[in-house]
Amino acid sequence: MTLSDHDKELIVKVWKKISPKAAQIGGDALARLVVVFPQTKIYFSHFADLSPSSPQIKAHGAKVLGAIGEAVRGIDNVSVSLSKLSELHAYNLRVDPVNFKLLAHTLLVSLSATLGAEFTPEIHLAWDKFLAVIAAVLSEKYR
Ligand code: HEM
Repeated sequence: MTLSDHDKELIVKVWKKISPKAAQIGGDALARLVVVFPQTKIYFSHFADLSPSSPQIKAHGAKVLGAIGEAVRGIDNVSVSLSKLSELHAYNLRVDPVNFKLLAHTLLVSLSATLGAEFTPEIHLAWDKFLAVIAAVLSEKYR
């Protein structure tokens, strides 16, 4: 998956707009993940509360969006920007790569809910591609 210059522009533009709300968007995406795809809860079984309003789930969503911010800042080389996280997810957490697609899906829903009409088909496409790039990077250490 290759991002065009136009995709990158749209990703950076949207990130500038949403970054003040990043923690909230991440919390919403994680809350949706555990409800819509309950099989993902297995990875968070050490959390005391796995409900969508769980403070741990919300805090974790904020961390995920923090990493997405890193990826935006290093958009020309996401592989380098997220290399430590790639090792963590592959070797320590052993997250099955299929789950990255599930989270990408709920993140897009949360972005759409935040941006409303500004979440144009073009922005949808650019972020879908960007999240696919992040998923590939977080899965690359499995190969
Ligand atoms: C931890 C990012 C996808 C499961 C983390 C951390 C970050 C992160 C920043 C914290 C690392 C640290 O504390 O040093 C991301 C990003 C993802 C992603 C950017 C994709 C966009 C997933 C998926 C799952 C998952 C799909 C499983 C369904 C976990 C778990 C932890 C973790 C279990 C450790 C949680 C804890 O014990 O506090 N991830 N993650 N991640 N991630 Fe991910």
